Amino acid sequence: MTDPALRPSGPFRYGDRVQLTGPKGRLSTITLTEGGEMHTHHGVLKHEVLVGLPDGSVVENSAGSEYLALRPLLRDFVLSMPRGAAIVYPKDAAQIIAQADIFPGAVVVEAGVGSGALSLSLLRAVGREGRLLSFERREEFADVARANVTTFLGATPENWSITLGDLAEALPETVDAGSVDRVVLDMLAPWDCIDAVAEALTPGGVVTCYVATATQLSRVAEYLRGTGLFTEPEANETMVRGWHVEGLAVRPDHRMVAHTGFLISARRLAPGAVPPDVRKRAVRKTAYGDEDVELWTPGAVGDRQITDKNLRKRLRDAERAAAGVLRATTADDEADAGAAGDD
Ligand SMILES: C[S@@+](CC[C@H](N)C(=O)[O-])C[C@H]1O[C@@H](n2cnc3c(N)ncnc32)[C@H](O)[C@@H]1O
Repeated sequence: MTDPALRPSGPFRYGDRVQLTGPKGRLSTITLTEGGEMHTHHGVLKHEVLVGLPDGSVVENSAGSEYLALRPLLRDFVLSMPRGAAIVYPKDAAQIIAQADIFPGAVVVEAGVGSGALSLSLLRAVGREGRLLSFERREEFADVARANVTTFLGATPENWSITLGDLAEALPETVDAGSVDRVVLDMLAPWDCIDAVAEALTPGGVVTCYVATATQLSRVAEYLRGTGLFTEPEANETMVRGWHVEGLAVRPDHRMVAHTGFLISARRLAPGAVPPDVRKRAVRKTAYGDEDVELWTPGAVGDRQITDKNLRKRLRDAERAAAGVLRATTADDEADAGAAGDD
């Protein structure tokens, strides 16, 4: 198997990322390398012990401490990977795939790429036959996203590109009008990009925006309506409440993530089409003055801004992880090539 991360199953091999649950439930994630060892004050675990074992095995280290070894799921990885910008959480990523109707073979545009969490779900959904065109206006965030995607997939997918720049300007320069199947926007001001998105989308194509606040939701809804180029937008949010299920103690968890964001989706109409039931509404510009726009600054919407120093550290972490995976994968490929030559 040349691309284990795209098919993350089968026995462990060098280059795999493995999540270990050790004494007292402590989690560590390692990348299996030839000669690699994990040192803790509970002893040493040689990576070679894991190679060839089935996913879900329990192994012992030099001191007899036991570790449960599992390949991290996509949702485990995105929650633990280095972040430049806030990520789309797995519950919302799953809804985006469904509501934006991302299908194998689709041409999908995404902006901004942020930390690359949503990119990973989109890449999975479009498959090898599809294409993901990501746009990001901050180069450091694009670098973090690239490193994270490379770490998880073991290589940078050939059907994925990141274009640096503002989507509103970069999209028309990058794609032909009407050539994009789906667009997903996760940014502070998606309404600024809707004209470019309308131009890029194929008739019937879907745009889905992920926004954090009700004021953003309202503004993007009114903008979509005002263009007259989309179907009536549909909005919702997703709450996932965990349950504690043990014997007779079966009840909702005490804590939950109550709010992450809202999704709003609409479909591109054919040129000149006016749906019979659409009440034409102009964008009421007066509804949004300068002081309203101030309300959507990153600080005002509680979007904590990462410091440059912190971002450089996250980028170093992400690149170190990606380099480790690439080193291990290359060494493994060379070993495979050597073994094949011996046949
Ligand atoms: C919340 S983050 C995206 C997180 C990403 N979806 C993830 O799951 O990791 C928003 C990103 O959008 C970028 N951005 C904002 N406006 C943009 C625009 N007009 N064009 C391109 N990127 C933009 C920001 O720089 C930031 O990195």
